[in-house]
Amino acid sequence: MRTLAMLLAVAAGTALAQHGLHSTCVLVPDAQNGFHGVSGTIDFLQKTETDPVHVTGMVYGLTEGKHGFHIHTAGVTGADCSSTGGHFNPDGFTHGAPTSEFRHVGDLGNIDAYLNGTAFVDIMDTIISLHDVERNITGRALVVHAFEDDLGLGGDEGSLATGNAGARVACCTISQRGF
Ligand code: CU
Ligand code: ZN
Repeated sequence: MRTLAMLLAVAAGTALAQHGLHSTCVLVPDAQNGFHGVSGTIDFLQKTETDPVHVTGMVYGLTEGKHGFHIHTAGVTGADCSSTGGHFNPDGFTHGAPTSEFRHVGDLGNIDAYLNGTAFVDIMDTIISLHDVERNITGRALVVHAFEDDLGLGGDEGSLATGNAGARVACCTISQRGF
């Protein structure tokens, strides 16, 4: 009986390792600050601690073109995206591109909306994590901005802080999902 319990525990552990971790976020417009109409669901999947996080989903209701797409430090309170703090930055670096050697952990770059306002999101990122303690994004916020993130190349102070991506049009708290 004891052996069976042990075998089941091992099997469960193996299943968890195979499927990895899954977090999800359902975007809500920042009505508190006058934004309406943006919606979407984003999923975050990571097999093991050493695998990249696969970020997928759709965002609707955007203006055509690029929009800054970041993980901010805190979860959303009161449907107010300003409650999420700044970009998630446990390393204390300046703002950058997803591919920059030095960047905020939360710097996922831009999403790009078609004329109809829909953006398809499909990002592989090796810096954010669902497993790691330091870089874990679960419980933090995903924020979509009004403007394009200049990826730290704007040549001014704002660029190295936020990428000059402007207002926060929609956000959500990233929460863990079971399978
Ligand atoms: Cu942001
Ligand atoms: Zn940043």
